[in-house]
Amino acid sequence: MLSDPQLIDSINSQIGNEFKASMQYLAIGAYFEKETLPELAKFFYEQADEERTHALKFMQFILDAGGEVKIPSIPSPTHHFQFAEDAVKLSLESEWIVTNQINDLVGLATKNNNYITMQFLQWFVKEQLEEVSSMEDLLKIIQRAGEGGLLHVEEYLARSPRSEQQA
Ligand code: FEO
Repeated sequence: MLSDPQLIDSINSQIGNEFKASMQYLAIGAYFEKETLPELAKFFYEQADEERTHALKFMQFILDAGGEVKIPSIPSPTHHFQFAEDAVKLSLESEWIVTNQINDLVGLATKNNNYITMQFLQWFVKEQLEEVSSMEDLLKIIQRAGEGGLLHVEEYLARSPRSEQQA
């Protein structure tokens, strides 16, 4: 087996973390859709798809390495938020948690001299930089707009390059 059992266990846990993030973003997308904020809903639904893709990448890696995929149970996400800002704050916290989890995986692969896993994880290290940065930007915009200015946030997202790229 290319990857050692300790790493396979940790990557299986990470699959759960990515699905957990995906479900949290789905719940936040549904919250924004219910609040009739379609661009914010779209942003989080797309984010949920990205997290699912991350989980699938980890699954494929385990399979390529000859390990066994074991998807952990996923806790129910948070569905209710008092303010839009609370949902985005939770998302930013979640991205920092995932960043630390990826860092821990890199640390373990390094400690075990597992160069294949170290190289595989580099994609995720870079991805986390982008995801933390984009969620920090969204939080700043929401805070600047305030609860009464959420339609400005909708306009901003509708015009953002991210939205045009994925249209
Ligand atoms: Fe897969 Fe946003 O971390």
